[in-house]
Amino acid sequence: GVHPYEDPKLTILSDKTRIALNSAAELLKEGQCVAFPTETVYGLGADATCTSAVRGIYAAKSRPADNPLIVHIASLKQLRRLLPKPFSAAALPSPTVEEPTEETIPAVYLPLIEKFWPGPLTILLPLPNPSPLSPNVTSVQPTFAARMPRHPIALALSAISGLPLAAPSANASGKPSPTKAAHVYTDLQGKIPLIIDGGSANVGLESTVVDGLRYPPVVLRPGGISAEEIRACGGVWQDVVVAKKDADDNEAPRAPGMKYKHYSPRAGVVLYDVGAAPPNGKDLMISANYVSRVGIVRTRTWQKGFAERELKRCMEHSQGEQKHVEIFEESLGSDGKDIGRGLFAVLRELDEKGVDVIHVEGIDEKDEGLAVMNRLGKAASVVVRKVT
Ligand code: TXA
Ligand code: MG
Repeated sequence: GVHPYEDPKLTILSDKTRIALNSAAELLKEGQCVAFPTETVYGLGADATCTSAVRGIYAAKSRPADNPLIVHIASLKQLRRLLPKPFSAAALPSPTVEEPTEETIPAVYLPLIEKFWPGPLTILLPLPNPSPLSPNVTSVQPTFAARMPRHPIALALSAISGLPLAAPSANASGKPSPTKAAHVYTDLQGKIPLIIDGGSANVGLESTVVDGLRYPPVVLRPGGISAEEIRACGGVWQDVVVAKKDADDNEAPRAPGMKYKHYSPRAGVVLYDVGAAPPNGKDLMISANYVSRVGIVRTRTWQKGFAERELKRCMEHSQGEQKHVEIFEESLGSDGKDIGRGLFAVLRELDEKGVDVIHVEGIDEKDEGLAVMNRLGKAASVVVRKVT
């Protein structure tokens, strides 16, 4: 094959990035973990064929070992090495028959691969027996999850190291996924030897995980490719359903009765469904009994500065003690892609400002909205619904 450095797609990488990639590839070959950018979120990668390397990922993230990892590959050739072998012509009686060049990637996925790879789509595939992957990648599953990322650094890392890379999001378990190198640093400093900085992630939410090995096919986790886009691929994909309890719920709560928390900033998140009244001055004040810093995340309809105005109005009419409430307002804009891209970074920024509660305006569960609301639903301790 073409040496990665001679691949025209990689010429956009700077010399500094290439040096970082070489160091990263060396570390990976030694069985260490490296954080790298992908177009969805930053990943924490290790050699997917090496159990001690994969264990390092779980340790750095404090991730429960029963939650399986996604394997990142740079080419279909690399993927086929991980799949069950085709019925081989070598086993046939006639030695003159050519080895069949049969496709081992399940046919159901070919239209999706054609359309969405490289990109934010993860597919479940059959595990061969014996499997070249570490059993710690797949946990108890009979399948493994694979994705060809679109980010040139992620692709180059797999190509240069020659390794399939097991990589979950590079956050501490339970925190919002990292969309910038600085987020990885905050969570994992001192625990991993290298972070490759590739700037801000373009998608900002994790990949969509689909299982096409059953009928109807299932979206196990909504993400960077919408259910509508998958349906548009036709065939059985027209019938795709979205799982109620999704793949990320594999991470069981640590104690019975504890709310399952994921994608969560330190602050409490209050999520407002579309059509629910935004927080009024009293809502902001009530929280002020025990909090003084309040984060607001606007999307499509909440007006700029509304929280400050509400608070002021409420203070003017309140007889009792005056409370000091500081408002930190952020806007994600109204475009679905922009909201997905900025969501995790805004939650982390508000945490850094020391807010105790974050009120977030939800959006419709259409297109990108499904993944956005999925992540917010998991981050939220309270959901305010529309009164009907
Ligand atoms: O965008 C992404 O997917 C990012 C970047 C780094 O590629 N990775 C990521 O990985 O989000 P992680 O580990 O945070 O999420 C992997 C998801 C989990 O929901 C896990 O349960 C599911 O994929 N998964 C992995 N292997 C599976 C399998 N064999 N069967 C069912 N679900 C699986
Ligand atoms: Mg994750």
